[in-house]
Amino acid sequence: MISKTLIVNGMTKTLLVNPEDSLADVLRGQLLLTSVNVGCGTGQCGACNVILDGKLVRTCTLKMKRVEDGAAVTTLEGIGTPEHMHPLQLSWMFHGGAQCGFCTPGLVMSSTAFIEKHKGQPVTREEIRRGHAGNLCRCTGYDAIIAAVESCLNDTPPQNTCACLRKPDGPCHHHQS
Ligand code: FES
Ligand code: FES
Repeated sequence: MISKTLIVNGMTKTLLVNPEDSLADVLRGQLLLTSVNVGCGTGQCGACNVILDGKLVRTCTLKMKRVEDGAAVTTLEGIGTPEHMHPLQLSWMFHGGAQCGFCTPGLVMSSTAFIEKHKGQPVTREEIRRGHAGNLCRCTGYDAIIAAVESCLNDTPPQNTCACLRKPDGPCHHHQS
């Protein structure tokens, strides 16, 4: 076992880990960050994506012995909460980007990295599509996902839409506080 300190979603965590375990194993098994889904387990599908020191990485094939001490990890849990969703998450709901949702956390992490890289630049749908080619979704189809990212890039996410999507211009009567 080795000791690793990670900054996970802004919080410092010091852990004893097996150097041969993957970062996905540690995030899910030790830190209970279950948004980090393991689909293929072989670096093909992107379901396990997180942002590590500013770069999008697949965690299923990244062994802990290769993760730098002090590295900063952002998972979906660090992007938004049910009460305060990130515009990307609202946009995903609005455009119907998820069905079973298994691929969604990894895709949202890819989109977060993509938007960070392309902020303020004109980006075509084809470029968004290519930028998400490393993520596989077996149910939704990609059009809704690309539309969600495009709407965030153009700064037109449905910010005021009720999270339940019943009402496009603010909380519906079920969700008024
Ligand atoms: S589970 Fe990691 S890339 Fe598929
Ligand atoms: S929504 Fe089911 S795998 Fe993408």
